[in-house]
Amino acid sequence: MRLDKYISSVTDMSRMQVKRALKSAGVTVNGVPTTDQRTMVQADDEVVFNGEILRAAKLRYYMLNKPEGYVCATKDQTNMTVLELLDEDNIETLHAAGRLDIDTTGLVLITDDGQWSHRVTAPKSECKKTYYIETFEPIAEQVIAQFAEGIKLKGELRPTLPAELVLMHEQAARLTICEGKYHQVKRMFAAVGNKVELLHRESIGNISLDEDLEPGSYRELTEQEIAEI
Ligand code: URA
Repeated sequence: MRLDKYISSVTDMSRMQVKRALKSAGVTVNGVPTTDQRTMVQADDEVVFNGEILRAAKLRYYMLNKPEGYVCATKDQTNMTVLELLDEDNIETLHAAGRLDIDTTGLVLITDDGQWSHRVTAPKSECKKTYYIETFEPIAEQVIAQFAEGIKLKGELRPTLPAELVLMHEQAARLTICEGKYHQVKRMFAAVGNKVELLHRESIGNISLDEDLEPGSYRELTEQEIAEI
């Protein structure tokens, strides 16, 4: 990360204030003095600003196996939130990177790193999400092609981006989509005259739900998983 961005992220100074301060304040990176805002710094570099060592707050990243009945919100008047399943300090600084419906189960990523969660959810990133689905009606073979081409959802102007549907049984499939429109999976099946009975998220990008996690359990992400996003 650039030095000016780093200093502004760990202090309450704006990038412009940091730029000015760099000219007057003594700044060293790993003991080397610099006034150049473009100097690149790594997470473990020692940055000293005005005689003080700056420390980035350690960002937190978790995967949760969401059970039914919880909402992916930071606060809710009626229902329990996924954050309440975490036995961690300062849960109010955390948020879910993308939402699952109250009756959907499976992988939810939770973090306090806004830039990272933006990469999970921003339409531009086209981050893949895979769901296991069971339906009320048999899934017709032709739905594979319809989902692959993109399907027009009620109330949307543009069709969905190509999605991969793999049939597992008559009424069960695995679907991979790379966007996250409101109730997208349920609306996709509704658009082909079917109804989702069970929806479970198995993976986001290259991060798969840990099979050892019981519903309601969570664990920290590994460095490698964090880097996958
Ligand atoms: N699509 C849905 O319809 N619901 C979810 O919870 C996730 C994706």
